[in-house]
Amino acid sequence: MSNPERIPAGIHNAIDYERIAPQVMEAGRHAYVAGGCGWDATVAANRAAFARHAVLPRLLRDLRGGQSRLALGDWLLPHPFLLAPVAHQRLAHADAELASARAAAATGSCLVASTLSSCTLEAIAAAAGPARWFQLYLQPERAHSLDLLRRAEGAGYAAIVLTLDASIQLASRSALAAGFVMPPDCTPANLAGHAPAAAPALAEGESRIFQGAMRHAPRWDDLHWLLEQSRLPVWVKGVLHPEDALALKAAGCAGLIVSNHGGRSLDGAPASLDMLPAIRAAVGAGYPLLMDGGIRSGADAFKALALGANAVLVGRLQVYALAAAGALGVAHMLQLLVEELHATMAQAGCAQLADITPDCLRSNPTC
Ligand code: FNR
Repeated sequence: MSNPERIPAGIHNAIDYERIAPQVMEAGRHAYVAGGCGWDATVAANRAAFARHAVLPRLLRDLRGGQSRLALGDWLLPHPFLLAPVAHQRLAHADAELASARAAAATGSCLVASTLSSCTLEAIAAAAGPARWFQLYLQPERAHSLDLLRRAEGAGYAAIVLTLDASIQLASRSALAAGFVMPPDCTPANLAGHAPAAAPALAEGESRIFQGAMRHAPRWDDLHWLLEQSRLPVWVKGVLHPEDALALKAAGCAGLIVSNHGGRSLDGAPASLDMLPAIRAAVGAGYPLLMDGGIRSGADAFKALALGANAVLVGRLQVYALAAAGALGVAHMLQLLVEELHATMAQAGCAQLADITPDCLRSNPTC
């Protein structure tokens, strides 16, 4: 499919990029990105959760000094939207993550580069702005994980995002039905030369999951090891249980990302938004907490912030905008999200992010 670097007609809201995605992506690639795992129950739950909350308008407030700045770690960001780590972006555009990185730089947004990106983390760092984090998948061999960590430190990433919820990902029925196969030019560039040792054959009676896929899944001692090794703050992504959140905070993580991997890890996991209030209650008011899963508009972000997130990450919308118009599309999508957030804040009488509280929402009786 061609990727003309201009905004397609009919894009008025950020979610329009999702609407036109089937027109700008080959069917199998679109199914791979859009799908979750299994039958997409958690993908649907992520979206349905937002509809259960309504934003309550307020009147007559002076909002002329309004803005959406946010301090996150050492960074002062102009808005609370981060580009989520999304693997294999060459599926969407020939420039892959370099285009997303340029969009992040142009809009002052924080980008989280995936371990499984199509471009190397060094090339992404060169294209991105200063607000860049690296998402780490721990590798079966610690030497390989350490190599990725040191490369990320050397390339000027400001934080490590350790993703813990994807040790096993069951297949997406929709991607299978569309006949999706990963194309040969979508190899994970960061892992070139990191060929894992061949997995030993399973003995009779052993489980393909427990003794197979989970053999190298991260455990608490791996997290402690990473926290000792890293010169950068370590965030953990994929948190859904308040007790895990509390333990991760106690272990020394810089912050957490409430996420179900966009419904791609456990079909039947709860919506990220639904777990957010309990996790905020567990970790307390001042602790950095991000969320993702189902963010398609500025109003969605407003609801997530009202329920306890400091900022949100954008996964699929990033890929759809990339497929539609490369770096320009991703920058435009981010700009639309920011404007939608500002519009929602203005209607709700919020002049800054700190004004967005649970009181701004009502449960939606129509859902
Ligand atoms: C992802 N996600 C992801 N997460 C991660 O930590 N590392 C990764 O490499 C990937 N790769 C990836 C590929 C694709 C195609 C998708 C759709 C998602 C998950 C991602 O960071 C984020 O959690 C979800 O995408 C958020 O949900 P939405 O915004 O897509 O609804």
